[in-house]
Amino acid sequence: MSYPKKTTIGLFDSGVGGLTVLRALIDRIPDVNYLYFGDTARLPYGSKSAETVAHYAVGAIRYLEEQGADLLVIACNTATALAFKEIEAATKFQVIGVVEPGAQAATAASTTRNVVVIGTEATVGSHAYRVALETRGVSAREKACPLLVPLVEEGWVDHPVTEQVAQIYLSDVFGDQSDNADVLLLGCTHYPLLRPLLRRIVPEHIEIVDSAESTAETVAAVVGKAGTRLSQEVGARPLEPHLKFFATDSAEKFIRMGSRFLGLPVKDVTHVGLKE
Ligand code: DGL
Repeated sequence: MSYPKKTTIGLFDSGVGGLTVLRALIDRIPDVNYLYFGDTARLPYGSKSAETVAHYAVGAIRYLEEQGADLLVIACNTATALAFKEIEAATKFQVIGVVEPGAQAATAASTTRNVVVIGTEATVGSHAYRVALETRGVSAREKACPLLVPLVEEGWVDHPVTEQVAQIYLSDVFGDQSDNADVLLLGCTHYPLLRPLLRRIVPEHIEIVDSAESTAETVAAVVGKAGTRLSQEVGARPLEPHLKFFATDSAEKFIRMGSRFLGLPVKDVTHVGLKE
């Protein structure tokens, strides 16, 4: 599939967490339009059923299409894990989720072919990462870490309580070295913010792989040619990404929390009232 020079990438997430994926994308492709939809009124998705998540996600994707998105990125690990097929079936545009790129990057990083995946209850329960890794000949152990999302949302990314909680979750998986895992795959939008904390507590030889980074690389490869052309044309002028945000809960709250996840000021936010 070929894309017009100025692709409009529509990102979807349950809330602000997917801004970690947007950040990774902006770093690689600064010169396209981005539309970001955060379903803040209905998060968390990580504790919901596949049917509910699919229903919400399809509604959001349709909205992004109406706004002009011509390439869709499911930044939410839970939505990708539970509803990727339903989302793909609901749109004529290409859809990129986080699970396949994350599994691909973890596979490339693992020498022992053993990976530990952490994510929400729903992501882990779906075994989407395990299946994607096993397809590549890699064994996976999955661990749900549900308390990490609210702790990150609270801003406690370097807090002793978060460190203790993460330690409890991870000692379960790394306490027993019998399977020789050498990669920790971060299968949740919020975990990249915990990367420095996790680095301190996981054994030194474990490589941390982030599905946000690997997804951004996959998307960059898809839009690569158009992006490169535009960058060359613009020459020395700094490239400004064109960002527009949609949130189903308060725009003000999205601005406040979003800037932390994006690491850039979040400005143009529209409140969206989606019908059930
Ligand atoms: N965005 C979700 C994910 O990556 C985490 C937050 C939620 O549970 O909605 O799985």
